Amino acid sequence: MTADAPGRVNLIGEHTDYNEGFVLPLAIPQRTRVELTPRDDRRVRAWTQARPADPPVAWKLGAEAPTGGWADYVQGVTVALARERHQLGGFDLRVASDVPVGAGLSSSAALCVALLRALRAAYALPLGDVDLARVGQMAENDFVGAPVGILDFMASSLAGERAALFLDTRSLAWRAVPLPDGLDIAVVDSGITHAHATGDYRVRRAECAQAAQLLGLRALRDATLDALDVLPPTLRRRARHVVTEDARVLEAVRAIEAGDLPWLGRLFSASHASMRDDFAVSLPPIDRLVEVAEEQPDVFGARLTGGGFGGSIVLACRAGTAEAVAAATAAAWAAETGGAPRVHVPWSGP
Ligand code: GLA
Repeated sequence: MTADAPGRVNLIGEHTDYNEGFVLPLAIPQRTRVELTPRDDRRVRAWTQARPADPPVAWKLGAEAPTGGWADYVQGVTVALARERHQLGGFDLRVASDVPVGAGLSSSAALCVALLRALRAAYALPLGDVDLARVGQMAENDFVGAPVGILDFMASSLAGERAALFLDTRSLAWRAVPLPDGLDIAVVDSGITHAHATGDYRVRRAECAQAAQLLGLRALRDATLDALDVLPPTLRRRARHVVTEDARVLEAVRAIEAGDLPWLGRLFSASHASMRDDFAVSLPPIDRLVEVAEEQPDVFGARLTGGGFGGSIVLACRAGTAEAVAAATAAAWAAETGGAPRVHVPWSGP
């Protein structure tokens, strides 16, 4: 039994998912593939091609225990399925992936969704694609212990490479938004990983929850700009990012559907400024990477994508130029900063 699932790049709508707002991710061509062989007992053995010399990580269903490694996502999935009362048997699992790890492109969601697809097929589990996303999120929240939203899992389970997934994370209603012919999307990975990324993410999440509570709201999705004045300064800035970012997602859908790419580019730039100044999840070298990208001809706009504190930027550029502008951006930034960027070009227009 084989299955696969893609990584994702979020075009816009950052740190809105756990505020019950809007997101607009796209699948990238890089995927995680799994080969699953059911066993007669309740043992699981898992190998990854990334560590070919390692012995398999092994455990018994029902006796999962976190190890701090990649297989925690596999254990998290079997625990979450058991909690949801799905019947599984043991299995051998082989994982191979070309989704970059630590680049903010959701390698962990790709692993969870690929595994869930394989398990659904192997054990005829009555799970729809949205259910797969929910179970994946549960695995990461409850077992791995990372308080992430549903963005990455919905994107890996449902997004296409040529149509973005416009998702309302409150209702989980979604629709595909095909990208216009004139647009290319490129991704440049800064190569920077922030040691405290998970801790800082948790802090931002708590700040948003606190702001919503002070405003008497269930989530910042329901806040308006005018109402934010009552908040203390830091929380006001955090909430302002969420409120303006939700509005930018709705505008970005309109810009894409109108084929107005300069408008889309302006929204990317404004989103980055908001993540930098109000939400404080960027880093100076990433700000510079965005500036260098926006200095390239043919780039409509660029922004930090994903959780922040390192990771990748996403560029919207004229069709046919993604490869060249991404390479030029990476080279110019590397020369200036001594950084080691990597280029991913997930999508080229027809
Ligand atoms: C990470 C999380 C997502 C989302 C983004 C920020 O990628 O996994 O749930 O919160 O950060 O938009």
